[in-house]
Amino acid sequence: MCCRGSAIEVTSYRVGVLVSGRGSNLHAILEAEKAGELSAEVALVISNRSGAQAIAHATAHGKPVRLVERRHFETRRDQQLFMADELSAANVDLVVLAGFDQILCPEFIERFAGKVINIHPSLLPAFAGGLHAQRDALAYGVKISGCTVHFVNAEVDGGAIILQRAVPVLDDDTVDTLAARILEQEHLALPLVIRLLAQERIQTAGERGTRIVDQA
Ligand code: GRF
Repeated sequence: MCCRGSAIEVTSYRVGVLVSGRGSNLHAILEAEKAGELSAEVALVISNRSGAQAIAHATAHGKPVRLVERRHFETRRDQQLFMADELSAANVDLVVLAGFDQILCPEFIERFAGKVINIHPSLLPAFAGGLHAQRDALAYGVKISGCTVHFVNAEVDGGAIILQRAVPVLDDDTVDTLAARILEQEHLALPLVIRLLAQERIQTAGERGTRIVDQA
């Protein structure tokens, strides 16, 4: 919301979501928006995979979807710069990686500096960088795991941490049971962080400092 003179102009906080697969986090975001709990509007969903179930979630919620497949571009960089153009055209304030399976090129990150967030299924910096964080946590024998929402910078899973939610790792866990327990927390964490960003309640300081502040 911004105020000019005596008139109050309500401007919505626009979110672009990049997806590649199942889309359960996208679904959680869309349900939060529907329930009026997001303080933001999903303005565009981009998938790099035609078979992504996430596309059906976006369509079911009446959201515009662009399919931007690698095969239609000479390089991954070209593909991602096209995505960046689509996001700019949609006037997004925030880009959310919700199960997006590519590493973003430096130009993309620079263009949306400080405006890209990701969710990772571990308590970073533990088990960063891979696609099997839950399996790796189980194999390592940690007793607590969880999820992390963080800003995206040039280092994979290395940007400033915004929010983490922890879960116990149980003796009889399988990768699937642990992943499901973490996913429940992901579905709370990601919409919450979007809301906090939309409400300008995340303060940043330096490379790593982030702080959630009370509503003004
Ligand atoms: C989630 O576990 C997320 O943490 C990771 O990819 C998975 C995406 O799941 N980055 P979904 O597509 O949102 O269901």
